[in-house]
Amino acid sequence: MNVIWRVSKYLFRYPGLFFGTLALAIAMTGLQIWIPNQIQSILEGVQDSAAISKLWMGIGTIALLYFGSEMANGLRVILNNTLEQKVLMDMRGEIHAKLLQLPVSFYDQRKSGEISSRVIEDVNNVERALLDGTEIGTRALVMLIGVTIVLFSKNAFLAWFVFLPVPILLVLGYFYAKHGRKYWKKVRVASGDLNSLLVEDIQGNRLIQTFGLQKRESARFYQRADTLRNRMLAAMYRWAVYNPGTNFLTNLGTVSVIGVGGYLILNDASDFGFPAMVAFLMLANMIYMPIGQLHQLNHLIVAGKASGERVFEVLDAKIDVEDPAHPKAFPEGLLEFDFRNVTFQYPERPPVLQDFNLTLAPGKVTALVGHTGAGKSTIANLAMRSYDTTKGVVTINGADIREFSLHDLHQQIGHVAQDPFLFEGTVRENLLLAKEDATADEIERALRGSSAWDFVQKMPDGVDTNIGEKGIRLSQGEKQRLTIARVLLKNPPMVILDEATASVDTITERQIQHALENLMSERTVLVIAHRLSTIRKADQIVVLENGGILEQGTHDELLLNNGRYANLWLHQVDVIQEYEDEEFTREKVADR
Ligand SMILES: Nc1ncnc2c1ncn2[C@@H]1O[C@H](COP(=O)(O)OP(=O)(O)OP(=O)(O)O)[C@@H](O)[C@H]1O
Ligand SMILES: [Mg+2]
Repeated sequence: MNVIWRVSKYLFRYPGLFFGTLALAIAMTGLQIWIPNQIQSILEGVQDSAAISKLWMGIGTIALLYFGSEMANGLRVILNNTLEQKVLMDMRGEIHAKLLQLPVSFYDQRKSGEISSRVIEDVNNVERALLDGTEIGTRALVMLIGVTIVLFSKNAFLAWFVFLPVPILLVLGYFYAKHGRKYWKKVRVASGDLNSLLVEDIQGNRLIQTFGLQKRESARFYQRADTLRNRMLAAMYRWAVYNPGTNFLTNLGTVSVIGVGGYLILNDASDFGFPAMVAFLMLANMIYMPIGQLHQLNHLIVAGKASGERVFEVLDAKIDVEDPAHPKAFPEGLLEFDFRNVTFQYPERPPVLQDFNLTLAPGKVTALVGHTGAGKSTIANLAMRSYDTTKGVVTINGADIREFSLHDLHQQIGHVAQDPFLFEGTVRENLLLAKEDATADEIERALRGSSAWDFVQKMPDGVDTNIGEKGIRLSQGEKQRLTIARVLLKNPPMVILDEATASVDTITERQIQHALENLMSERTVLVIAHRLSTIRKADQIVVLENGGILEQGTHDELLLNNGRYANLWLHQVDVIQEYEDEEFTREKVADR
């Protein structure tokens, strides 16, 4: 009931359209109910051998009634569809807006195809249930009430026989609704699963080809399609019993009316004659039709309710990273980020950070080092409030990060992600995301700063070249350089570089390093890097292990300390040394 009520509220947003549709449905049905009466009086007139003019009049009136009812019908279709599209847009818009609001953790737990199937298919189902539902519902109700009144006024005794099957129909309808929902919900889940596999196959098509996974994927697709088919059939089989069963019962009603009506005519034709019998049968069918439609309505509502629950599950999903009701003004100038006794764990995982303390000093560069999975990106995520801490706080210039609006916070942070994301579109469009009104000059400077200018120039349309979905037509290093250019253009007071140069060659890295050094001055910077040469100049280097800090200091201090960092450094230098030694010997060989 709750779901139906919530869905109905969407209709009430457009009272004009909604009540207009209802009024036209009522008008249309009212005119239709009038028709059997007219037929009866014509037939009676013919029997009484009255004037032929009366026949013409009668026929004319019937034609007018039909015309009027179909006019109302046409108008109703227009209003109904306008209303339908408006409600669809509202619902889709709302669910999409909510999806944009939902925190990262929501997506960690779900599959993209499954989510998209909720936005497209489920919203459609709900909307159909809603609109066809109200339409069929009102028409059926008006028909039922109107026809009942007319039937009882004509012959109360015979009218009771028309209603004989109704209680059984209602009971059957109740049980169908009660059990059907379960089946339709299963259908929706299976459809979401199939959709998610499809999206994954499209996104992973390169991997599928290189690993030759076509057979495996076909099998998985077939299996899910088969589940969907079976669940759909299970739901439909119930409909296949319910629908003909109820039809048969209503037909029995017609049979009983013919039987009893025939008996009445046989006994006393003056009181209940042949014309009345014809009108009666027409009216009886008019009542069975809406009852049949009520079952269709039942079916629609059952399927719609299952979908509605899935739509509302998204609309009601808790936003666990909440925007404060009264956000604090974001501080101007240099920023200091402070992690105070922070403990953090992803759902159903052991803690990544435990009682972690770290200050990212204003205007200084802090570098994070640690084995893969140590929690470096997690620290960056907490600084951007992609997640909230489990315990402890992150502060910005002394104030809890949760007191600022998320929008302000994200405005102040430039993030080069480990796994760069670019939108489908041109290079320029992707850069403009960082600064809407950037001039061509600014764009060029940003591209030069990230050593991207040269390769962008070589592309067919320069900055106006389309780079494909997720930037698929670029190399990893090119993508990374564009994301750096984006941050250069954004020019924020806080910068997070998560393995920003991991995918470029050492020469390009050195060039970018230069640009990054410019970027890093006068800002608070958090750099994450496996290649230690890139963080040598950092103001402080933090070595992470087991959810805490193992070592902390400048490059020189840590070398003196002779701990983990020194060890890592020597190892990386050794590799370079080996290489240089080799060069050296090669030179010597050449000398000889
Ligand atoms: N969304 C997530 N849900 C659950 N666990 C996660 C999630 N993201 C990361 N983890 C886990 O948290 C731990 C820390 O991950 P994190 O990404 O911070 O590591 P990292 O230090 O950045 O590693 P790398 O150097 O490989 O990038 C890992 O053990 C990882 O499995
Ligand atoms: Mg990482």
